[in-house]
Amino acid sequence: MTRVIAIANQKGGVGKTTTALNLGSALAERGRSVLLIDLDQQGSLTISAGLDPESLNETVYTVLSSYADPKVKQPSLLTTIITPIEALRIDLAPANIELAALDLELTRVYSREHILRRALEPVRGAYEYILVDCPPSLGLVVINALTAADEVIVPLQTDYLATKGVKLLMDTVEAVTAQLNANLRITGILLTQADQRTTHARQIIELTRTTFAGQVHVFETIIKLSVRLKEAPITGQSILAYDPTGDATAAYRQLAQEL
Ligand SMILES: Nc1ncnc2c1ncn2[C@@H]1O[C@H](COP(=O)(O)OP(=O)(O)O)[C@@H](O)[C@H]1O
Ligand SMILES: [Mg+2]
Repeated sequence: MTRVIAIANQKGGVGKTTTALNLGSALAERGRSVLLIDLDQQGSLTISAGLDPESLNETVYTVLSSYADPKVKQPSLLTTIITPIEALRIDLAPANIELAALDLELTRVYSREHILRRALEPVRGAYEYILVDCPPSLGLVVINALTAADEVIVPLQTDYLATKGVKLLMDTVEAVTAQLNANLRITGILLTQADQRTTHARQIIELTRTTFAGQVHVFETIIKLSVRLKEAPITGQSILAYDPTGDATAAYRQLAQEL
């Protein structure tokens, strides 16, 4: 069975893209078939996978914007943009800056929240995991991700102010569940960039666990602050390949197992 997992948080810099890439690689290492979908106009995931976004003519934008014309019926268009990334043993649906235009183009389109879900239908059966890397917003692109997904993982930076913003995301997930996708559930909050040498980080970990106890799962796995995680994308490698015996590799492997 396929699990479609949106990796979402409207705050930028919390570790969404890093998690999509490295969790995807850790799942692939366990022999799972994985598709990563870049839904961020910045194309960070696309770059991390070793592609140059600006040189791409066809991206998720091409696929999603094709639904703006109701007469165009290209149900398997997504397959044409899926690119195998040999080094990571995953497939990628890339994005670039063109995606910035999508919101406006879809404003008059009927059922525009369901476009990614429809585009995924012909390909979802080919994968065990489809990880959707969301942009830092709660706009139409993210609503499409949540409508297409079965699950949400929420990366959360281990600092006090970051924890404050999660409520808005929870409310959004609740609204999508009520109105667009009754099957959606939050699989867990993933604490990232934890500097466990500091008391503050330890306090936030405690606070997050008690705040969400009984409501939302908080993963046992915690991604610590790691310079290696910053370096890996520059080399076009996952953390698993870049630093096979490091803490961050162990953490993303543990997360894959927890999933
Ligand atoms: N655990 C970590 N330790 C150190 N740096 C990290 C960690 N996770 C992510 N980063 C770095 O933080 C920045 C933002 O991460 P990213 O995954 O792009 O966040 P998002 O996709 O939520 O905007 C990137 O430079 C990334 O390399
Ligand atoms: Mg990102």
